[in-house]
Amino acid sequence: MNVKGIIFDLDGVVLSTDHFHYLAWKSLADELNIPFTEKDNEKLRGVSRMASFEIILANKPELKLTEEEKEKYATQKNELYRTYLQKMTPADVSEEVRDTLKALREKGYKLAVGSSSKNAGFILERTEMTSYFDAISDGNNITKSKPDPEVFLKAAEFVGLAPEACAVIEDAEAGLEGAVAGKMLPVAIGSAHSSPLAKISLDTFGDLLKHF
Ligand code: BG6
Ligand code: MG
Repeated sequence: MNVKGIIFDLDGVVLSTDHFHYLAWKSLADELNIPFTEKDNEKLRGVSRMASFEIILANKPELKLTEEEKEKYATQKNELYRTYLQKMTPADVSEEVRDTLKALREKGYKLAVGSSSKNAGFILERTEMTSYFDAISDGNNITKSKPDPEVFLKAAEFVGLAPEACAVIEDAEAGLEGAVAGKMLPVAIGSAHSSPLAKISLDTFGDLLKHF
């Protein structure tokens, strides 16, 4: 595979907002008396906001909400989540990540973000990471969330490359499934490290430079 472009998932790969997601969902779950633990939060990795809420609601099947109520509660969760994001600064992205992205770009790779999050642009702005990437594909330009490959296919399109010329770096099983479905090279890091779907598994972000 001749890789010319690298597509990065954001949360759990470039930086970490999982705990903020957890705190915001936990607050809503408590309000609705739904059992929700940090272990449940793991199931939400890479999954869109509404699909995440459905997974949480499955912990209390007797609670029946209308679509309108679901939208209202998901918006409430997002508002709380964004108060946490507001506190993010460039210090929330490691030097290792910044140096590695810079080095990959110098080697001539096109770099893109492929994130399910509708807050990706805001997070990249807060952490001053926007300029490290040639394109951003996120929850705002897709209709189907991971494991569908749409977000990655769009990222490839945005940087002008065929999917087969792209690698996808993911910490979520759903993301690796999307990479495989999109005919891209699936590379795992963090929580997805031991996934059988991964063609390459990274111990550290800097290890990208051993492979690309
Ligand atoms: C992904 C996270 O990046 O974005 C998921 O891994 C999250 O946990 C999803 O649910 C959607 O995020 P947002 O910011 O659009 O609510
Ligand atoms: Mg992720």
